[in-house]
Amino acid sequence: MKTVLVTGGCGFMGSHFIRLLGRQGSWRVVNLDKLTYAGDPERLQDIQNDARYQFVRGDIGDRQLVHELFEHERPWAVVNFAAESHVDRSILDPGPFLQTNVVGTEVLLEAAHAYRVDRFVQISTDEVYGDTEGREPSLEDSPLRASSPYAASKAAADLICLAYRRTYDMPVLIVRSSNNYGPFQFPEKLIPLIIRNSLKNQELPVYGDGGQRRDWLHVDDSARGFLDVLRGGRPGEIYNVGTGSLRTNIEIVREICALLAPRGGLGLDGLLSRVRYVDDRPGHDRCYEMDSQKIRKELGWTPEVTLGAGLELTVQWYIDHQHWLEHVVSGEYQAYYDAVYARTWQKK
Ligand code: NAD
Ligand code: TYD
Repeated sequence: MKTVLVTGGCGFMGSHFIRLLGRQGSWRVVNLDKLTYAGDPERLQDIQNDARYQFVRGDIGDRQLVHELFEHERPWAVVNFAAESHVDRSILDPGPFLQTNVVGTEVLLEAAHAYRVDRFVQISTDEVYGDTEGREPSLEDSPLRASSPYAASKAAADLICLAYRRTYDMPVLIVRSSNNYGPFQFPEKLIPLIIRNSLKNQELPVYGDGGQRRDWLHVDDSARGFLDVLRGGRPGEIYNVGTGSLRTNIEIVREICALLAPRGGLGLDGLLSRVRYVDDRPGHDRCYEMDSQKIRKELGWTPEVTLGAGLELTVQWYIDHQHWLEHVVSGEYQAYYDAVYARTWQKK
């Protein structure tokens, strides 16, 4: 049975990917996760006793631990989700982003090279291409024009991966995904934040004029894309994965309000009156648009969850899992929230 080392598997996207691996076949999964504020083993509670699953708490930047893990597990493949993933946090403090996203990726590559893994899949983002407002949709060979410290750290990680490919002939594959949404996303990101604040009758913060556009991809669809690349992608290649259909942030906020209105006392007008236009995020990209024809043509991937259906399912999931939401915001969340929404960009 092949062992896949998944890093960051207690996070939002990694946990969905691990569950998909479990359903799809005869894989053994080792999940290496540091359990930062964003990591929560509860996301994988349903499989924690599965004999094919093993959790190891640790930092991908810990060279000794990573080498010992490779020595012991001899993984067939690595899928690297572990990262500091939130743009606003990278504006408050870029340091951890460089440490985990860049140095951590290099530590994994080094071990993967030493132990000759068959595949190294790097989970990347459309944000490495920078703002595509007024440009053609990004192709896999479009220039990297990262805007935020987060995006720059992910672009740096992609370049280190490609350098290991070219220099050491490593079987590296990169998948650049658009914005994900779905169950178990940490409520610092737009969609779960707006749902939670609506459920708690709090303000709904919209950055700038709310006209920025994103390509929202359901996490089940992205997980299938990552698995397709793991199984059938060509080493050395980059694959964009997105729906190609964009919405403005204010459209997303209004759709969430419309879905929640029949379930609460405020009604649609009451919910919409909670929208607050707040100072824009510094360096905010207006648009991320990618061309994902390559993964569609080469690997047959296509998104299956429409935004309408996906948002409805997601809103219902959060209504049904408010205990989980409150559990994950019980730590440093309020201090983070106060720091970001003060819009002074000072770490408190
Ligand atoms: P997340 O923040 O929900 O989870 C990140 C996970 O990584 C957490 O479990 C955390 O504990 C773990 N982690 C952080 N630092 C670590 C370290 N040093 N060592 C080991 N584990 C560590 O992130 P996510 O939204 O699931 O994103 C997963 C990956 O996908 C990231 O690489 C991100 O850049 C990328 N991505 C995310 C999106 C999105 O919309 N969320 C879109 C495109 C790409
Ligand atoms: P986010 O979920 O942080 O993802 P990313 O910045 O990686 O795209 O934000 C999505 C969009 O929503 C982005 O344009 C910023 C905007 N946004 C708001 O308007 N209000 C908010 O409270 C948050 C968190 C984001």
